[in-house]
Amino acid sequence: MSTVEQLRNDFHKTFERPATAFFFAPGRVNLIGEYTDISGGHVFPCAVSLGTYAAAAPRSDRKIRLHSLNFQEKGVIEADLAAIERRPEHDWALYPLGVFRELAAHGSPVPAGADILYCGNLPNGTGLSSSASIEVLTATLLNDLFALGLDPVKLALISQAAENKFVGVACGIMDQFASAMGRSGQALLLNCRTLEYQYRPLVPDRASLVITNSHKRRSLNESKYNIRRAECEAALAAVRALKDVESLCDLTPAEFDPLSRAIKDPDQLKRARHVVGENQRTLEAAEALERGDLAAFGRLMKASHLSLRDDFEVSGRELDTLAELAWQCPGVIGSRMTGAGFGGCTVSFVEPGAVDYFRNVVGPAYEKAVGHPPSFYLVEAADGAAKLKEADT
Ligand code: GLA
Repeated sequence: MSTVEQLRNDFHKTFERPATAFFFAPGRVNLIGEYTDISGGHVFPCAVSLGTYAAAAPRSDRKIRLHSLNFQEKGVIEADLAAIERRPEHDWALYPLGVFRELAAHGSPVPAGADILYCGNLPNGTGLSSSASIEVLTATLLNDLFALGLDPVKLALISQAAENKFVGVACGIMDQFASAMGRSGQALLLNCRTLEYQYRPLVPDRASLVITNSHKRRSLNESKYNIRRAECEAALAAVRALKDVESLCDLTPAEFDPLSRAIKDPDQLKRARHVVGENQRTLEAAEALERGDLAAFGRLMKASHLSLRDDFEVSGRELDTLAELAWQCPGVIGSRMTGAGFGGCTVSFVEPGAVDYFRNVVGPAYEKAVGHPPSFYLVEAADGAAKLKEADT
């Protein structure tokens, strides 16, 4: 049975009416450029083939009914379009409900409610943007069902606002942008201040993209994500006493160096040093990929991980173990933690002929070190959120 057929059946079973359209929004893996989006810098992610599916039908009244096959035990979650509140029992549905709210706040309110069934194959809380994928999916499907006429960049911004204002995570734009704007076979070099972007082809014949799940669960809500953001903002405020800059990533490492003495708090100094260096590494990595210098790309990935470990302090034992095992493994071009950290996944570029060897070496060694095995996902860069055709699987 195709995915669409499955969704059609499950939708009917849940809501006792037929779905009218089907959609998919991908998760993302960030190749390099971590925590730079919240400081006006560059990121270099790609959308992946794992993500969230939905079947949907508009309603004629103002009721919203949401159900996720991944959270069956929560049943159907209902809300009233006219009064969407942030209630703890809404749980996973806070993400889509936030999108309904933010569409209205951005001047594109949906005229009626909807029934929506979700089903994702992206592991939750692993740094692969399951949250962004459900947000962008919801924005994409409402845009289609109600012919709102919004472009994908706007949908990404609305999705980010839902996470910022409704879910309460002060995330940047990277994840939602990648989920909305991803392109098959390409990574996305995004300037998060101007939202200018360029696609850069990956080279799957020379470098396979392997995600390794540490199975140390993280949640942005519980994590220190918002604290890190506040530390970066405090560092920026201190720098501004010496120089009028809009964001930390306006500075090269050489420009930052003499200004860094303005940052008196040692933690804030380390956070800022990471962000400025990471932005530079991201630009260098995109250039290295363009000239086919994968070895340089790999070195930059390693430097990124070390900076996230030592200066930004978001890696942790599991991710450090995975990265170190990968760096020692023949055939690995580069490896680093990806996403917000505090658990979650690493991303590795591995020579295509060495992928099995990589799994066979890193898997057992990781299990020996931390007590449980990792999971591996061999992924490709995928297209952004879209409506599915009947024949899509
Ligand atoms: C999360 C956030 C992003 C970004 C990354 C870290 O994924 O949603 O905006 O800040 O962490 O790079």
